[in-house]
Amino acid sequence: MRLENKKAIVTGGAGGIGRATSLALAAEGAAVAVVDLNADAAEGVAAEIRAAGGSAIAIAADVASEADIERVIATAVAELGGVNVVFNNAGIIRRTTAVETTVEEWDRVFGVNVRSIFLMCKHIVPIMEAAGGGSIINTGSGWGLKGGGQAISYCASKGAVVNMTRALAIDHGPAGIRVNSVNPGDVNTGMLRDEARQLAQDTNAFLAEAADRPLRRMGEPSEVAQAVVWLASDDSSYVTGSALVVDGGGIA
Ligand code: NAI
Repeated sequence: MRLENKKAIVTGGAGGIGRATSLALAAEGAAVAVVDLNADAAEGVAAEIRAAGGSAIAIAADVASEADIERVIATAVAELGGVNVVFNNAGIIRRTTAVETTVEEWDRVFGVNVRSIFLMCKHIVPIMEAAGGGSIINTGSGWGLKGGGQAISYCASKGAVVNMTRALAIDHGPAGIRVNSVNPGDVNTGMLRDEARQLAQDTNAFLAEAADRPLRRMGEPSEVAQAVVWLASDDSSYVTGSALVVDGGGIA
């Protein structure tokens, strides 16, 4: 058990990567607060963890809202007895170019993907500081490192996640808080199917294209989860400010 005595918040915890990571953190001994816009699905993941003998609660919240983030943290601290791991993972994508993107869509993507992480850190860092440290992991994307087509707000937001992670690591390292990003390539979740819908493409053809990388397949959510477990654990005690890529070698 690599995460005994860890207490973790996972945002987007009901989705593909968030659910797998919530399960993986709990399997290593962490108590987990599963946070998601989808209340029923979050409760389902928490129930799954408890049924497997783990410890979990569900919290319904919109991570773009400061009031919701403050409530999430207060609830997690009260019910888990503290928080020393945060996985800022909730995210949305809009498959549009700059010309096609409305200001409202741009703001919503940045609200969910970027402001959420700022808000979480604004309110969790003092708690981690007082407790002597912690580990924060933010979900970036391969497209946050290299860019991609027809996803201008998403690419900009994930680039912001990667660099915000470095800035957070610099500011809060002296307090013992490590901050890293995990950057998946194409992972087999609902998000990819949503992208195929948004682009009006055949889902199977879209998924086949997503698998065109050196390892010749998409990633599975559990494979991202294991990277997050490592970053959450003391096994990565000298790692901060890094952008860990988990993408099957999707370099091009
Ligand atoms: P997903 O769509 O399966 O899960 C996302 C979860 O976030 C959903 O449960 C959704 O309800 C929740 N969510 C959305 N908006 C929210 C909000 N405002 N407040 C709280 N929860 C909210 O997608 P997936 O693939 O698991 O994505 C997780 C993260 O991984 C995202 O940040 C995504 O951008 C990133 N990512 C995913 C890749 C992929 O190929 N699936 C590739 C690279 C990055």
